[in-house]
Amino acid sequence: TPPIFRSVESLRDTVRAWKSAGQTVGVVPTMGALHEGHLSLARRARTECDRVITTIFVNPKQFNNPEDLKKYPRTEEADAALLATVPVDAIFAPPVDEVYPEGFGTNVSVSGVSEPLEGKMRPGHFDGVATVVTKLFGMTLADRGYFGQKDWQQLQVVLKLVRDLNLPVQIVGCETIRDPDGLAMSSRNVRLTPEGRAKAPVLYAALSAATAEIRAGLPDRMAIREAAEQIRAAGFDRVEYIELRDAATLIPSDDPTRPRRMLAAAWLDGVRLIDNIPV
Ligand code: PAJ
Repeated sequence: TPPIFRSVESLRDTVRAWKSAGQTVGVVPTMGALHEGHLSLARRARTECDRVITTIFVNPKQFNNPEDLKKYPRTEEADAALLATVPVDAIFAPPVDEVYPEGFGTNVSVSGVSEPLEGKMRPGHFDGVATVVTKLFGMTLADRGYFGQKDWQQLQVVLKLVRDLNLPVQIVGCETIRDPDGLAMSSRNVRLTPEGRAKAPVLYAALSAATAEIRAGLPDRMAIREAAEQIRAAGFDRVEYIELRDAATLIPSDDPTRPRRMLAAAWLDGVRLIDNIPV
């Protein structure tokens, strides 16, 4: 399995040697509990970079719910075995006090794109993401950073962060990997009951149907209302949001000539599922 680094100092020694040999470094930030979605990012990085680092860090700063943090799956041995199949060159899995030592006091907050949707439902979440991603780029000396479109708003936050702060990192957004029935892969899917798992693909099916209807000329509002009804009728407990937004700014958009994204969050079996697709 790939070497696992715990300290910034030891990782940096290795990365500096790579860089002085003229090699490029791709970084795939994760919170572990890896599945095919994460591995697809690592494989993409493998094809585009000389060296690949996967980071595994369950970032306490981005959890607004302490229970969710405590319940977050931790499967480092299995993760390392999966990463060996890619293969990646290094795993960076620091303890919490390596990332947030005594006296840590900086917050990175991206305005605008962080605020609606996930930002509204999970206060402080994107500050936590932006802060840790900034730190991970600095710690790993990343040339490229790989992120999934599954977390579309997060990807837009990271793109804006890198632009606003002139971080010397190229961000690569990668396609959402789905189970054969359409459900977007997620570390949280394992918490669904078999009955819930059977209903879960309706989230993606409803988004797909609504975007098809919009392209066929149905008014946005009607297509969205139908999708919300379809999700509820399938047995979801609650639709938290389903919205049509400008793909980059996430401002509500009724301009079909601009790139738009339909995004949704819904609860099933006490599990919060999110998904999004282009319109
Ligand atoms: P995590 O949820 O572990 O996801 C790590 C990366 O994998 C993210 O970029 C996410 O979008 C991507 N990903 C997850 N499921 C995917 C799927 N089905 N298809 C494609 N990509 C997928 O997102 C985070 O961790 C954290 O917020 C992090 C960026 C690591 C900062 O802590």
